[in-house]
Amino acid sequence: MLHTNLSVNENNHLTIAGADTVSLAREYGTPLMVLDEERIKSNMLAYVSAMKKHFGDNATPFYASKAFSCKYLYRLASETGMGIDIVSSGELYTAKAAGFDLSLSCFHGNNKTDADIVYALENGVGHFVVDNLSELDRIDEIAAEMGKTPSVLLRLSPGIDPHTFAAVVTGSVDCKFGIAIETSQAEEALRYALTKKNISVDGIHAHIGSQIFDVEPFCDEAKIMVGFLSDMKKKLCFDCKILNLGGGFGVKYVEGQPNINVESFISEIAKYVKNEVEKCGISYPKIYMEPGRSIVADTCLTLYTVGGTKEIPGFKNYVSVDGGMSDNPRYALYGSEYTVCLASRMADEKSFTCTVAGRCCESGDLIQENVLLPKPNRGDILAVLVTGAYNYSMASNYNRIPRPAVVAVTKDGVKTVIRRESFEDIIKNDL
Ligand code: LLP
Repeated sequence: MLHTNLSVNENNHLTIAGADTVSLAREYGTPLMVLDEERIKSNMLAYVSAMKKHFGDNATPFYASKAFSCKYLYRLASETGMGIDIVSSGELYTAKAAGFDLSLSCFHGNNKTDADIVYALENGVGHFVVDNLSELDRIDEIAAEMGKTPSVLLRLSPGIDPHTFAAVVTGSVDCKFGIAIETSQAEEALRYALTKKNISVDGIHAHIGSQIFDVEPFCDEAKIMVGFLSDMKKKLCFDCKILNLGGGFGVKYVEGQPNINVESFISEIAKYVKNEVEKCGISYPKIYMEPGRSIVADTCLTLYTVGGTKEIPGFKNYVSVDGGMSDNPRYALYGSEYTVCLASRMADEKSFTCTVAGRCCESGDLIQENVLLPKPNRGDILAVLVTGAYNYSMASNYNRIPRPAVVAVTKDGVKTVIRRESFEDIIKNDL
């Protein structure tokens, strides 16, 4: 199977972490997202231990919670010793409700509102990752009014093409995020930031993109960032305390894609950081990273109940399911690849090539095309694998379809971690 936590049991059903997906679908209803708790923890701990081993004891991974923000995941991040990357007051609120220690958080985003800044300061956010100078000015002013001196990292763009899909490239010079090194604006921004009295400029940050399978772009990023620090040490006497290298490690969604070994990637990147730091003669900063997708993606699958099947002779076949772009908009948005299987008849002969369509009133509402399945019957359970990252967090109520329930398979049994949305939930803000 695609990942080691997936298997097929004697009933010919797909299992995740040993749990029968068809039984889960019957018990909890569909669409249903099923998480594997042990795999989430081991993905988190892989980063915690590899970073400490290769970057030093004070290195910390921050879970990029935009991948999947909910109280349950903030609690697991806290248990495993991770920090968190948050990008809105809503994520901050969720983390706070989960009891997360917000001093271990980085507040991101390219447009923090005044209200976000106040809220983050009131709640003791660990670091602001500052995207632009107007934001820097506002953080400094609001901090002065509130009598605080927040820690700031400057978000820089190192000008790297990480060879991934365009919508998730974030470190190029012309991207909407950060301040470019290449244009000397990063140097100007740092010079300016260091004149501010109510912030502590503790470091720099970059995130080059997402779903990246090569280690080279990360090594290039490390080189460029340390090179910048060396330059700034000479020009501005800037001593960097924190170097945040962002996230972006790729995850296997379909056969043929590699399974990244997190520890070997980190060990390779650490070599570059250490070499460059030694070469430049600057002091070794604390290293942060921000994995999102590689923490949660392969810990989850989505179960749907098959509805109608439509054959258009000479054209294509459709299989419709009871969810769609409302719980997984990634195929519609990016043409993302997924592995789809008929969870209720795993070993049956696959002879039906089809497009798996959602139930939304829109022809672009597809989950995947050219899928080979046993010919599905109404009531069969269909599984889409590797749906932990950017699925629930990007879900919507389009067509007033309630968001799915999320359950976790744990050592002590199955538990609901997000209740299925109800129709009452959907109208609760309508007046
Ligand atoms: N740090 C920052 C500042 C980020 O912007 C992101 C992702 C991450 C870390 C985590 O990156 P990851 O490890 O998950 O690759 N919705 C898109 C992905 C958007 C990524 C946004 N930023 C998708 O569904 O593919």
